[in-house]
Amino acid sequence: MASLTQNLTRIFEEAFIALDLPVQHARVQVSGAGQDAQFQCNGALACAKPLKKNPREIAQSIIDQIKDKDIFADLSIGGPGFINITLKESYISTFLDDLSDSDTLGVQIIDTEETIVLDYGGPNIAKAMHVGHLRSSIIGDSLRRMYAYAGYNTVGDVHMGDWGTPMGMILSELDLMKFDGEITMEMLAEIYPKASAACKEDESRAALAREATRKLQDGDPDYTQRWREFIDVSIAGMKKNFDALGVHFDEWKGESDAHPFIAPMVEDLKSRGIAHEDEGALIINVSKEDDKKEVPPLILLKSDGAVLYGTTDLATIIDRIKSHNPSKIIYVVDQRQALHFEQVFRAAYKSKIISNNVALIHAGFGTMNGTDGKPFKTRAGDVMKLEDLIEMGIEKATARLDEAELAKDMDEAERADIAHKVAIAALKFADLQNNRIADYVFDIDRMTSFEGKTGPYLLYQAVRIQSLLRKAKENMPEDSVIRDNLRETTKRVLESITSEERAKMRAYFDKKTPQERLEFSARHGIGMHYQIQEEDRDLALLLGSFADHFENALKNNTPHVLCDYAYKLAQEFSSFYGNCHILSETDEALRASRLKLCQQTHKQLITILNLLGIDVPKRM
Ligand code: ARG
Repeated sequence: MASLTQNLTRIFEEAFIALDLPVQHARVQVSGAGQDAQFQCNGALACAKPLKKNPREIAQSIIDQIKDKDIFADLSIGGPGFINITLKESYISTFLDDLSDSDTLGVQIIDTEETIVLDYGGPNIAKAMHVGHLRSSIIGDSLRRMYAYAGYNTVGDVHMGDWGTPMGMILSELDLMKFDGEITMEMLAEIYPKASAACKEDESRAALAREATRKLQDGDPDYTQRWREFIDVSIAGMKKNFDALGVHFDEWKGESDAHPFIAPMVEDLKSRGIAHEDEGALIINVSKEDDKKEVPPLILLKSDGAVLYGTTDLATIIDRIKSHNPSKIIYVVDQRQALHFEQVFRAAYKSKIISNNVALIHAGFGTMNGTDGKPFKTRAGDVMKLEDLIEMGIEKATARLDEAELAKDMDEAERADIAHKVAIAALKFADLQNNRIADYVFDIDRMTSFEGKTGPYLLYQAVRIQSLLRKAKENMPEDSVIRDNLRETTKRVLESITSEERAKMRAYFDKKTPQERLEFSARHGIGMHYQIQEEDRDLALLLGSFADHFENALKNNTPHVLCDYAYKLAQEFSSFYGNCHILSETDEALRASRLKLCQQTHKQLITILNLLGIDVPKRM
C-alpha cells in the first residue's frame, strides 16, 4: 500500500531497469493544474543528455515497455519528452479498495524501535506563558503526533526555563521582602517583572540576584526548597494552559535537570582539550574554515563560574542520549535562536557528546505579528498571555457559531465544548498552515471564520460528512444487531467477534436469496468495491495522494503541507458533493461507492486534523 504516484513510480522503475536507464529518474508525479494528463514522468529528459539520445525516443521506449498493463487509459509523449499518464477508472477503483483497507491511509509504517525526542513549549518559570510559546507548543505537538503516526517512539519534552538568573532575581526579591508565606502564581507574576526591572537599574541589586542564582545552582538547601515551591506553582499554571490547548508532553523536564551532568561534562571537555579558558571564561571554539558568517565560540562557564543557556542545552543532550538513545532530537524554537543552536550542535558533534548518526535539528519558526505587522501585543501594548488568548478565541468562536446559526439547539455544556473546539481549531490551524519559518499575521477575525482556509471551515466540513454518513446509516433497515456487526465486515472484525455472533450472521444470510444479499451489501457499502466514474475522479485521485503529502510533511518537519492537503481535500469534496448524487443516487452500487468516497474523505480529514492536534465535535 502506498500512494498512486508511489505505485506508478514502481512500475516506471521496473521499465527503467529493463531498459538499462538510471532508475533514479523514474519518479512519477502529479501533473500540474491545467494539464490534460493526471500524472507525468519527466525522466526521459534527464536520461537523454548523458546517453546522447533523443528524449522522445527514450520516452517511447519506456511507453512500449509498460503500455500493455491494464491500468493506463492513456500514455502519450508531450513536449520535448514528458510522458503523460492517465489511469483507467477501474484501476483507481481498485487502488481505493486497497486504500480503504489500509489502517494508515497508505503511509508506510517505520518498522524500527527508533526514538525521536522533541523539545517544544519551552515556557519560563515565573513568567506567564505568552504567544511566543504558543507557536512552539502547537508546531511541536503536531510534529510529535506525525512521528508517532509514522511508527516512531516519541518523547515530547517541555524543557522549561527554570535555572537561569530569573530564578535568582525571584529568590533575592523574596529575601528583600522577608517573605516566607505560601507563593502563588499571581505573586510570581508580580515579583518577577519588579525584580527584573530593579536589576536592570541597579548593579548592586543585580549582584544580589547573581549571588542567589549561584547559591541555588550550588545546591543551597533553603533556596532549593523555595525554588521547588515556585516551580510547582508555575508548572500547575502551565499544565492548565497546555490542557486547554490540547498539547501533550511526555516529560516535564527543564534546564535544571541538566545540572547533574554539567560538572562532569565540563571536566571531561577540559581534560580532552575541547574546552579551554579564554579571558577567565571557559569556551569551546566551534567556528569552521568555510563559515560565511562568524560563528562565535560556545561559552560554557562565565568568569564567575555561572553556567549559560548553551551549557544547559549541551548537558541536556547528554541526559537525552542516556535516557532515550534517540536517533533525532528536534528543537521547535524561535528562528531567532538559530545561531545558539548552531553553536550547541557544533559543540555536541565536535566533542563527540553525540555521534554523527544522531541528527540534531532546529525546526525554527517565525514571529507571530499583529495585524499592524509588528510582533503581536495586547491593545495596551503588553505581551498577550496565552490564557487570555484562548479566552479571546472562545469568545470569538461563540459569536461565529451564532452568526452561522450553528450548534443552535444544544444545551449550554455542548455549545461551550463546541466553541472551545472551534477556537482551538482556529488558533492551531492559523499557525500550522504557514511554512513555519515564515512570520505570520495573527488575525482573530480571519482565523475564526467558517469560510476560507481556516480551522473552523475544516471542522465544519468534517462534521458535515459525518452527518451525511450518519444519515446513510439511519436509512438502513432495522435488523440492527446483525447490521451493525456487518457494517464492519472486514476480515479483522470477523475474527474478533464471538463464534455465536458469527453463527447468527450466517443464519441471517442463509435465509436470503443471492439477489437479496447483493442488494444488502450494496445498500450498506459492505464488501462493495469502488466504482469510480468521471464525476468522482478528481476526488478519488486526490484521496490517492495522502501518503505523498504525509511523507513530505514528515521529511521536512512541516505540518503546513498537511494543512494545504486538508484544505484542498475539503474543497474537492465540496465540488463532488455539489456535482454528484450521493444519498439520492438510485444505482445502488454507485451509491455505495460514493458513500465509500465520503467515508474515505472523512477518515483522511479526521486523521489530518488529529495530526494537527485539532479535535472534531460530533455535531455542530
Ligand atoms: N525557554 C526558552 C525561551 O523561552 C526556550 C527553550 C527552547 N529549548 C531549548 N532546548 N533551548 O526562549
